[in-house]
Amino acid sequence: MRIGIAFDIDGVLIRGKRVLPQAIRAIRRVQDARVPFVLLTNGGGTTEAAKAKELSRVLDSDIRASQMVLAHTPMAPLAANYSNVNSNAVLILGSPFLCIFTCTRPSSSKRNESKSGKSECKDAALAYGFKYPVLAEEILVTCPEIWPFRAPSKSCQPISLDRKIGAILSFHDSQDWGRDAQIICDLMRTGGDLRRVVEPHHRDRTRHLHQHHTPPEQLPLYFSAGDFVWSNNLPLTRFAQGAFRYALETVYSRLTHGKPLEYTMYGKPHKVTYDYAQSAIDAHAVSLSLSHEVPIMPCKYFGIGDNPESDIAGANNNGWTSILVKTGVYESGPHEAKYLVADVEEAVDVILSQPH
Ligand code: G3P
Ligand code: MG
Repeated sequence: MRIGIAFDIDGVLIRGKRVLPQAIRAIRRVQDARVPFVLLTNGGGTTEAAKAKELSRVLDSDIRASQMVLAHTPMAPLAANYSNVNSNAVLILGSPFLCIFTCTRPSSSKRNESKSGKSECKDAALAYGFKYPVLAEEILVTCPEIWPFRAPSKSCQPISLDRKIGAILSFHDSQDWGRDAQIICDLMRTGGDLRRVVEPHHRDRTRHLHQHHTPPEQLPLYFSAGDFVWSNNLPLTRFAQGAFRYALETVYSRLTHGKPLEYTMYGKPHKVTYDYAQSAIDAHAVSLSLSHEVPIMPCKYFGIGDNPESDIAGANNNGWTSILVKTGVYESGPHEAKYLVADVEEAVDVILSQPH
């Protein structure tokens, strides 16, 4: 039986702005053993190519874009509905500043938001084929009164309000919870019609919206990850995308007199993401062996992670073998992992020592 591995990133290979030395050794060992693998993360906010390039550099190894399964990577097929000149726009949410290592390289702290306001979240959406991705900050620049509690970024340009927003996709952690919650609720109440959100002469037509009504059909809303917390170099965990979702659900329900927020989840531990990751591992196996027979040979998939609720639950629920490390979110206590190890290097020991 062949084997394949999915490495989690935050808390397994990287801790905050630091690459774990065990990670460099672990990746080198699986590459030397020609074991197919992917990096499977609930993080994102950039293109697979950019993330692969950065990780190749810091892990001192050659990682391909096709081995990167970011939280939003499996959302790419959604672009088919928003890909031509007549399509609706989509709102892409995600922090432009939270990619790894930005803290250690001040000169690059704005690297994913250029002077033209182009962000790596938007680059990813364009690469997937979305024709008109729009950023929350671009909406704020167009109408600062939407969230009048801070100045909009000078690096973003205003956008046209003519095109309706047809869907909202959260690619990464929110950069500004207040701005994003307000804009999402505005779009939900107007069916994605930005003109009705920002133009004063629409006031009469939107009067009923002030009374907490929403259109019967909710705008499609997609979250790329549900993690409540993640861990960086600080002793306490940091809020992740799931924490923002809880906050949004609360304000949306309050605004609509109890209507539940409807949404679709991607990322670990969801099946759609594990199916995608398996295909990516199989594709890597084909490229290593140059054999097209590989995908039909049985495979034992291993998921190495630090978060019991995403990495371990996801691996277990999708028929993979789960390995929990102690270098991230998990510290102690009951867990459902098949193996509990100190770090990623020990996880690779466990995998490579198995008969296969
Ligand atoms: O937002 C949570 C994210 O940073 C977790 O990343 O690599 O541990 O799945 P990862
Ligand atoms: Mg992790």
